Amino acid sequence: MATATHSSTSKSARKSATTSRSKTTSKKTAAGQKDAIQLLKADHREVEKLFGQFDKAKGDERRMRLCHKICMEFLVHAQIEEEIFYPACRDAMNDDDLVNEAVVEHQAAKDLISEIKGMDPADEMFAARMQVLEEQIEHHVKEEESELFPKAKKTDLDMKALGERLAARKKELMAERKGDGMEMH
Ligand SMILES: [Fe+2]
Ligand SMILES: [Fe+2]
Repeated sequence: MATATHSSTSKSARKSATTSRSKTTSKKTAAGQKDAIQLLKADHREVEKLFGQFDKAKGDERRMRLCHKICMEFLVHAQIEEEIFYPACRDAMNDDDLVNEAVVEHQAAKDLISEIKGMDPADEMFAARMQVLEEQIEHHVKEEESELFPKAKKTDLDMKALGERLAARKKELMAERKGDGMEMH
């Protein structure tokens, strides 16, 4: 991209804005607040747990409810990563490849979710699409946890401050989604 070569000033300015608050915010976030990596990993475990429940679930209604819950959890998670975590990683790491790959994987899962959303759980293609979604997300999570997160941890990113922003945005998005038929119950 043409912007890559002349964005170093704004990159470092944004970077220092993210990293300089660590000392002042650490006290406030110490009690129970997850840092960015802890929060994102907890989301991953939640989606894995839901897929486990879905795989064992009997009855179309329960399968549908779990499917909606999985899709909502994933979409909110992907959105907070794309809005907050991935841009911070781009700024802090001298390598866009991992983040670019992650964005493409998110898009593939989102496309599959939009196909799944309108389906009847009795349709045999519903189960096939959910199976592929599970495999795609599993692969994506493995890459984040084995490559992107360890690399991000080695930078001077303020993971506590990022964790606060991720948690606040997640709360907002969850509240918005409760009204659009993809609620958590
Ligand atoms: Fe993730
Ligand atoms: Fe992701």
